[in-house]
Amino acid sequence: MGKFIVQLLKKPLVQVGLVMVGALLIIGMGWGIHLTQVPPSQPIQFPHNMHINVGIQCLYCHPGALRGPSPGLPTESKCWGCHQQITVRNSEIDKLASFVKLNKPIAWVPVAILPDFVYFSHRPHIAAGLNCENCHGEISQMTVAEPQKMNMGWCLNCHRTRFKNDPVMLTKLTDCITCHK
Ligand code: HEC
Ligand code: HEC
Ligand code: HEC
Ligand code: HEC
Ligand code: HEC
Repeated sequence: MGKFIVQLLKKPLVQVGLVMVGALLIIGMGWGIHLTQVPPSQPIQFPHNMHINVGIQCLYCHPGALRGPSPGLPTESKCWGCHQQITVRNSEIDKLASFVKLNKPIAWVPVAILPDFVYFSHRPHIAAGLNCENCHGEISQMTVAEPQKMNMGWCLNCHRTRFKNDPVMLTKLTDCITCHK
């Protein structure tokens, strides 16, 4: 069997085939990476831009960012607190109304999410004076939130740049244990 595969791998046509499969895999990976930058389809086409334009603060809808690890998302009753008083009606507001009527939570698809083996908390980052936009992009220009690249190199890069003149913090914030408990 082993010999058979070795013989097969020596055949030019098989080699061409393997190269093509490899190329397709690489293209596929590129496409996969591309797809992750496009927002997933959400249950309601929530417009961040319109809400930020009328002056609603990020923390009004995502208050947990000041207090702890996660900012949280507004409940449908928080949305309705405003929208039952606003006369504008369209298909998206109708969807909101039916979630409220059925008392059903809106199943938003997360876009800013790290694997479970990473420790991250908003509170110290906000306390250090960072803006939401430093990490989440120009949300005020978006409708639904668009995914940003949030990998280990990105975290480390900011920690290294900010603390290049503070050896104690630099050591702490680049130590594996700080982010992988
Ligand atoms: C603090 C008040 C407030 C809260 C909370 C709020 N909204 Fe809005 N929303 C507004 C205002 C004001 C507008 C702009 C209305 C306009 O000018 O058409 C708006 C616009 C919208 C629109 C666009 C309507 C259009 O004309 O295209 C949608 C959809 C919407 N909101 C959904 C939601 C959802 C879903 C939530 C909860 C996750 C929510 N809103 C929470 C005040 C609020
Ligand atoms: C230092 C970078 C950074 C800053 C600054 C930051 N975030 Fe985040 N945010 C993240 C990361 C990383 C995640 C994913 C966390 C996870 O999955 O554990 C996240 C997740 C979120 C989520 C989804 C998680 C949830 O609780 O629903 C929301 C909403 C959010 N951020 C809002 C905000 C807001 C609002 C601000 C500003 C007040 C802010 N973020 C500031 C990095 C940041
Ligand atoms: C009126 C309420 C409202 C306001 C104001 C608001 N958001 Fe959101 N935010 C939402 C809702 C609803 C979602 C879920 C839909 C989506 O992903 O866009 C969301 C999602 C997000 C997410 C992705 C969360 C995840 O689970 O992956 C981030 C990041 C975020 N918002 C940041 C911000 C920032 C930064 C601001 C201020 C510039 C802001 N938001 C203002 C309601 C709001
Ligand atoms: C834009 C800059 C920036 C980015 C991006 C960033 N951080 Fe930080 N991080 C900071 C700053 C500033 C502090 C210091 C806060 C303080 O003064 O204690 C910090 C502190 C921390 C701490 C120590 C505080 C604590 O909770 O114990 C952890 C853990 C941490 N970051 C994890 C992460 C992870 C994980 C990521 C990527 C998902 C990340 N950070 C991305 C700027 C950043
Ligand atoms: C500032 C925070 C931070 C520090 C410090 C950090 N990591 Fe990570 N690490 C992350 C984040 C965020 C991810 C998940 C995203 C990714 O895969 O890039 C991750 C992912 C990983 C993974 C999984 C990679 C994969 O492709 O699935 C390994 C292994 C890892 N880290 C090892 C380490 C080691 C070893 C150290 C110390 C030398 C370290 N990390 C320090 C934030 C950090």
